[in-house]
Amino acid sequence: MDRNLALEMVRVTEASALAAARWMGKGDPVSADQAAVDAMHLTLNSQSIDGRIALGMGESGAVPKLYTGEEIGAGGPNHIELAIDPLECTKSVAYGRSNAMAVVAMAPPGEFFSPPSQYMEKLAVGPQAAGVIDLSLSIEENLSRIAKAKGYAIADLTVVILDRERHADMIARIRKLGARIHLIPDGDVAAAIAAATPGTGIDVLVGTGGSSEGVLAAAALRCIGGEIQTRLAPSDRQETDELRRTGYGNLSRVYRAADLVRGDNVMFVATGVTDGDLLNGVNYRADGATTHSLVLRSKTKTKRFIVTEHYFEDNPLY
Ligand code: FBP
Repeated sequence: MDRNLALEMVRVTEASALAAARWMGKGDPVSADQAAVDAMHLTLNSQSIDGRIALGMGESGAVPKLYTGEEIGAGGPNHIELAIDPLECTKSVAYGRSNAMAVVAMAPPGEFFSPPSQYMEKLAVGPQAAGVIDLSLSIEENLSRIAKAKGYAIADLTVVILDRERHADMIARIRKLGARIHLIPDGDVAAAIAAATPGTGIDVLVGTGGSSEGVLAAAALRCIGGEIQTRLAPSDRQETDELRRTGYGNLSRVYRAADLVRGDNVMFVATGVTDGDLLNGVNYRADGATTHSLVLRSKTKTKRFIVTEHYFEDNPLY
């Protein structure tokens, strides 16, 4: 994969973010999502890639654009696969909340883990605590190991978790331990990356969220270091059967970052739509808008924060 591809791809996530951000707070998740999908589809097709979507918006036939298996790009020497989320946190945009981003991850063909989209348990930390976590152990044991590795008291540890009923027991146990909790309405991709990024004030992501979001977070962590462990968590018998049918029936298996995105040539690009734990959202001016993006590459471990000023007069797309 061309080393400049991730830098080119930031145009794609910027376009999706700019299109979705117009819908902030308007109470219309469907239009916000559609705007991001349309912009990502259009701009991906102008990229010099011979691409295929490995993890998309749904199955072929179920969604018209950006479906899993869709061939995408204007052609070129870069034969790649993509895991995409034009608008991670659709509801955050619709209701003016945090952590919405447009996301693209890239790897050579065959490297993305692509089970049916279901829930997944997740545990993610930064480099200081990598190697000490173990998803098969209790939350108490994991937090105590993370605190020790980071040289903190448990009371000073900040744990991020999605604010969901399914997490009530885990939240109660974390509170009992005395750790601080950052409850988020949505957005465990940004939260997992924030947990692995020094200076964000977040030490660990725990809890259950989407499996595609787990793969996207793993792509980022393959680039910046840290560790994510995940385990498929089907919601009912039908989902369990679906996993069995598709070859993912071992529900006790723990998938690590290198199982979720294999190989050593991974790239990750995200642009903020609303302000969040990782990136600021789109800010408008009289003549345009400013976007904030993160561009990561596993081979070099480069981490670029890109602030772009867009001028709408010269760009009819927005
Ligand atoms: P969407 O944009 O698909 O709504 O995802 C937002 C999100 O919060 C993810 O970050 C998270 O993994 C997932 O939803 C959790 O799912 P649920 O809302 O069903 O608990």
